[in-house]
Amino acid sequence: MRFWKTNPFNPVTLVRGQGCTVWDTSGKSYLDLHSGTWCAVLGHGHPKWLAAVQEQTTKLTHTGASFLSTEIEEALTKLKQILPHELNRAVFLNTGSEAVEMALKIACSATGSDGIFTIEGSYYGATTFALALSEAGRTAGYLPSIGHIYRLPTPNCKRCTMGQTWPCDDFPCLNALAQWAEKNKHRAAAILYEPVMEAGIIVPPIGYCARLRTLASQFNILLIAEEVTTGMGRTGHWFAFEHDNIVPDILVIGKAIGAGLPVSVVVTTSEVEKRSQKIMGRHVQSHQNDPFSGRIVSAVISILQEEQLVERAAEQGAYLLTKLKELQLECLAISEVRGRGIMVGVELHPDVASKGAEIAKRLLEIGFIIDFHSPTATFRLFPPYVISNEEIDGFTKAFKQVLSEVISNCK
Ligand SMILES: Cc1ncc(COP(=O)(O)O)c(C=O)c1O
Repeated sequence: MRFWKTNPFNPVTLVRGQGCTVWDTSGKSYLDLHSGTWCAVLGHGHPKWLAAVQEQTTKLTHTGASFLSTEIEEALTKLKQILPHELNRAVFLNTGSEAVEMALKIACSATGSDGIFTIEGSYYGATTFALALSEAGRTAGYLPSIGHIYRLPTPNCKRCTMGQTWPCDDFPCLNALAQWAEKNKHRAAAILYEPVMEAGIIVPPIGYCARLRTLASQFNILLIAEEVTTGMGRTGHWFAFEHDNIVPDILVIGKAIGAGLPVSVVVTTSEVEKRSQKIMGRHVQSHQNDPFSGRIVSAVISILQEEQLVERAAEQGAYLLTKLKELQLECLAISEVRGRGIMVGVELHPDVASKGAEIAKRLLEIGFIIDFHSPTATFRLFPPYVISNEEIDGFTKAFKQVLSEVISNCK
């Protein structure tokens, strides 16, 4: 039997983690600027998280999807503390992809429609519906056709495909949505969007998400905030929709809410619940609403609250952004540094973009785990919220050294 690598792999076997550091089989340490796959927001092996995991595994992990448990009741109470009062119905699942899938089913069942608006360049997950709506699904070439998918331009004003310059009037990139919705009133179920796009760390311009909210309400389309990556503090607020002063109809939470364990949550309103009765029995899986998931959700929210880690994400994100902007001034290879909270992108100039993978590989060799997203020529930094200034300084120094070695145009 051989392991089948269905995605690119690093040539390192990891055995242990503590805080922002992980170790390989030879004892070599690495600074994890990637939080695993952006999940380990508390760092690896946080003692309170570990205690909750250990205690719950000895008590009860799994009940079957049709039982309630005190852990799920407690998790609902914790979620209520951090969510707007309208978002008061929750289902506990396992991965971000699955939660996106269920959110879409809820939207289709509530509206009786199958038209979904998505944003070009997005990523929503690995399951069929989620992938079909993602940029990666467009080129897969084997997915069955699913519903009606309408792609809206990426809200990246620096590369506006509508030929506009920022500030523009009323977001012409959303005109197609308004025109289509006007003509096809009964076809649209949802607008699915990421408040900050993980691919390239694209932060939509001020007012864009609020405009999505307005259009969704105007045409009776459900607005799904896909916060698998941005949720639970990553952008410096509990949820990124708070930056835009809006409330979505459906919220998808993943990654951070398990802090390294497979937990995701779909949250919606009582009104959407009433309208989606046809979902009953049509999204049931073995580990849905497990007490283990409930316990993890409560533990993660409590730790984020007690240790003020959402605030820390904002502070450490600002420090990381500042340090990388300073590096940009010294290094011509960097064309832009952008981000929100502790979700930061460093884009390479097009003429050196082909060197990105080599830079990431070299950084790994000297003990730094960093991701390079080649379609946008962007290094993506999603460290745990607990990263220290010293760790950030150590990384920026190493980053400069490697950029100079590989591209040789840093001062
Ligand atoms: C924005 C976004 N949505 C959805 C997903 C899918 O989540 P999961 O990998 O937990 O299924 C990801 C994963 O990287 C993501 O970044």
